Amino acid sequence: MTKSFIVGTSLIISALIYVPQIMAQDSGIVSLRGHKALDEDSAKPGMRKWVKDSDPIERDYVQQPPLIPHTTKGYKINKKFNKCLTCHSWANYKEAGATKISQTHFSDRENNVLANIAPRRYFCNQCHVPQVNAKPLVENTFRPIKAIKHRE
Ligand code: HEC
Ligand code: HEC
Repeated sequence: MTKSFIVGTSLIISALIYVPQIMAQDSGIVSLRGHKALDEDSAKPGMRKWVKDSDPIERDYVQQPPLIPHTTKGYKINKKFNKCLTCHSWANYKEAGATKISQTHFSDRENNVLANIAPRRYFCNQCHVPQVNAKPLVENTFRPIKAIKHRE
């Protein structure tokens, strides 16, 4: 092996290792685990405050799963029990003062309408997420579509 081959190869290897790191730092995007080498522990996440109870959050487009405007701490969902349905099911929504799950949640993927919530909609927090006081990781200039935007 020639000397220049060894020098060349090691330059390429170090470029492969360091350039992505430098690029990530320059782009202003900080990874959730901080600028840390892979074999280091990730940055400690800061404490977040969950939004407790607020009014429904405006939707940005018609097909959006509405965001959850209340805490979901301790709300279990398993094979036998679904805490969300104790307030959001058609049987319970009135008493709870909650929005009832929509009709779409009763259709399976072949569009058969079922008598009960479709299995694919059972795990609510696959699509509906509670909120914390976190800043967006990257700038976002998305604006809601006009059809559902409130007049200002
Ligand atoms: C103790 C009753 C209760 C439980 C349990 C509950 N919710 Fe709610 N939820 C409410 C109420 C009340 C509202 C607010 C309705 C309003 O103000 O119009 C709400 C609002 C929501 C909304 C917003 C609806 C909209 O139209 O914007 C979503 C989504 C939601 N809940 C999802 C969930 C999910 C998912 C779970 C389980 C992890 C859950 N909720 C558990 C009572 C409950
Ligand atoms: C696969 C994704 C998905 C799952 C799982 C899911 N939802 Fe939804 N949900 C949506 C979408 C999308 C919408 C808005 C469009 C619509 O109504 O279908 C919605 C709408 C809603 C609404 C508002 C209805 C209205 O009339 O405005 C409520 C309340 C809700 N979901 C509760 C739940 C609860 C409770 C569960 C669990 C039992 C659940 N969802 C599971 C996607 C999902």
